[in-house]
Amino acid sequence: MRSKVTVVGAGNVGATTAQRIHQLGYADVVLVDVVEDLPQGKSLDMLESGPVIGSDALITGANGYEETAGSDMVVITAGIARRPGMSRDDLLLTNMRITSAVTSEIVRHSPDTIILAVTNPLDAMVQNVYETAGLPRSRVFGMAGVLDTARYRTFIAQELNVSVDDVQALVLGGHGDDMVPLVRYTTVGCIPLTELLSQERIDSIVRRTRDGGGEIVALLKQGSAFYAPSAAITQMVEAVLLDKKRILPGCAYLQGEYGINGLCVGVPVKIGAGGMEQVLEISLTDAEQAALQSSAASVQELVDVMAKARAEAG
Ligand code: NAI
Ligand code: 2OP
Repeated sequence: MRSKVTVVGAGNVGATTAQRIHQLGYADVVLVDVVEDLPQGKSLDMLESGPVIGSDALITGANGYEETAGSDMVVITAGIARRPGMSRDDLLLTNMRITSAVTSEIVRHSPDTIILAVTNPLDAMVQNVYETAGLPRSRVFGMAGVLDTARYRTFIAQELNVSVDDVQALVLGGHGDDMVPLVRYTTVGCIPLTELLSQERIDSIVRRTRDGGGEIVALLKQGSAFYAPSAAITQMVEAVLLDKKRILPGCAYLQGEYGINGLCVGVPVKIGAGGMEQVLEISLTDAEQAALQSSAASVQELVDVMAKARAEAG
């Protein structure tokens, strides 16, 4: 029997993610959006690609949650995206309301599901989804680090003219301007990056990685990245469905790890059939730890704004 994955939000990220998962062939997909007929139209179009791409998986569209019942995994991409001049944080309260409503419906219809949150600002939204869902932390986590790391790896591979396969790296922290690419843990074919590039070139790549989302927004002019994000989401979904025990950067609710308690931040995690099965604690230098704390402080600020808005709304 095939697994069942629901993708909420049939916009750029959601539809592309649904397409990638449908193409894998081992999960049926339900695509949900508030816009009437949009998820149905996109799903039917994808379903009709099945004979060409060799996928027997089903994909259906819905405007409600009845069809999502019993999902093994749910990806939340519903919300508004950045436009030029907007930061991820400008999306906060609108997307908080959207992800709260979506989460309640998901958990009502699929109480045993695993939720992967993607909506921005990512870490704050994962926190909101985690608190709204009331599920164990292993079953609510977020995608951003795989994307940020993919950008970092791409830029390094380009700079050195090597295969992306040979660049191993890790970006920690919040999915914001103060994310923490860990240069000390970056290797190319097992060789430390610092042996291959000057500090000046590394600094420039780190800067471009941090600005990676904005670089795409500036080029697209309406909306933000979705090809690399949907590939990153699919890698995490596949890790769960195939119980791959992948070690990936993921946004997890920390309970004292890295000195952070009660906050969702990007760290190395193990992803398998149980969801976020383990937070891996790696040793950090004082400077790396300070950078992670500073990134976590930015996430905390957004979480505080959400708490205030909720309190004011009663
Ligand atoms: P989009 O605007 O193309 O699609 C968003 C979709 O959500 C729209 O179709 C909209 O109708 C739908 N939606 C809004 N409210 C809804 C609700 N209550 N229930 C169901 N659907 C609802 O935006 P895009 O590009 O797909 O991005 C989606 C989100 O993902 C944004 O917040 C964006 O910033 C974020 N994102 C996060 C990334 C990450 O690394 N975590 C990477 C890329 C995007
Ligand atoms: C990105 O980094 C929009 O957060 C998204 O592209």
